[in-house]
Amino acid sequence: MSERLLRGPLLHCLAEPDQSETAVDYQPDALLWLQNGLVHKMGPYPSFAKELSADQLAKVEDCSQYLMVPGFVDCHIHYPQTEMIAAYGTQLLEWLNTYTFPVESSFKDPAKAAAVSKVFIDQLLNNGTTTALVFCSVHPQSVDALFTEAQKQNMRLIAGKVMMDRNAPSNVLDTAQTSYHQSKQLIERWHGVDRLQYAVTPRFAPTSTDEQLAAAGRLLEEYEGVYLHTHLAENVDEIEWVKALFPNAKNYLDVYDQAGLLSKRSVFAHGIHLCDSECERLAQTDSAIAHCPTSNMFIGSGLFPMQKLQNHGIKIGMGTDVGGGTSFNMLQTLADGYKMQQLKGNNLSPEQSFYLATLGGAKALDMAEKIGNFEAGKEADFLLLDPNATTLLKFRTGHCEGWRDLLFVLQTLGDDRVIAQTNVMGKVV
Ligand code: GUN
Ligand code: ZN
Repeated sequence: MSERLLRGPLLHCLAEPDQSETAVDYQPDALLWLQNGLVHKMGPYPSFAKELSADQLAKVEDCSQYLMVPGFVDCHIHYPQTEMIAAYGTQLLEWLNTYTFPVESSFKDPAKAAAVSKVFIDQLLNNGTTTALVFCSVHPQSVDALFTEAQKQNMRLIAGKVMMDRNAPSNVLDTAQTSYHQSKQLIERWHGVDRLQYAVTPRFAPTSTDEQLAAAGRLLEEYEGVYLHTHLAENVDEIEWVKALFPNAKNYLDVYDQAGLLSKRSVFAHGIHLCDSECERLAQTDSAIAHCPTSNMFIGSGLFPMQKLQNHGIKIGMGTDVGGGTSFNMLQTLADGYKMQQLKGNNLSPEQSFYLATLGGAKALDMAEKIGNFEAGKEADFLLLDPNATTLLKFRTGHCEGWRDLLFVLQTLGDDRVIAQTNVMGKVV
């Protein structure tokens, strides 16, 4: 049996903060007791320490200078776009044609895919992201490369081959049939292996025919537990295009709905420009939205109506959306999310932001049974955050009053330097 014992301040969510007063659990002096990569027990050190033998007491790791938090959950990111993060000057449709499709075409080469997968997984872990839902490229070999790398780190990762059979250069297109067969093979090869799961991944409505969307729906019917991952209502020109391409659909979401793509394991990136009936349908089907603030501002897509979606009871998680997004770092993503809500007259609380990046993300991915906080039995994916990581942080956090203040300062000023240690299934990675 492997065992670890860590002692220090700890913060996690037990529920959604706005809905329960006991949603956030802060413990100034906690014992985090891990066995075989899972949380065995967690609670106040003074009372729990009585259960420990002298040997165990000698093994306790002193984390008093850090804040122990659950690993971050990134609900939407593109690994082939790592090398084109921060590409200048365009909005979605032109950005795809100018930067994205040419770069993604190079993932036909397995050596290239393997090299970028390594860089990508390293970036996730260095930034404290322990679970991610990831777009690959249209090439099945891009999925093999990414899963192979994630498996080496024993990461919890969901990914899939992009399906796209029209409105893009031929070197990034498949067909309804090949996308169905290739996805099927990948599901059989990877779904449920170690901590890996598969997401059926039509890029977005404009690059799929009805036939291909129907094939995606068939895959979801045939393989229980597989996810659906796509984009939705990100940009106004995109929405106009969808209307023209699918004249029989009631709205953008209805294109996916007609193909049977909505369920509690469906994650739609963005959802900025949704009407009430789309919101109602997302809530009814328990589908989730991945909110990607750095991307929405960087490629000029719009301001996310978080309160409207919350009022509809839609599950929301955070996404970095690299390379439309400008950072792998969840703290920076939360900082931009806060600023964006300020522009909407909504003061997103630090604990709500933290929830979205941890337990909320886990719920959006239908994984809250396994990850998202430190409840006994959950997988021990967690971080040590360093409030003194930079000169400014050390000075500023020295003036913090209480955990809420500290959390907000870390979210606002923090970046990868704050992530002192990332742990996956109880192991430092
Ligand atoms: N819509 C379709 N493809 C993409 C993509 O690669 N990134 C973003 N942000 N939106 C998309
Ligand atoms: Zn995206």
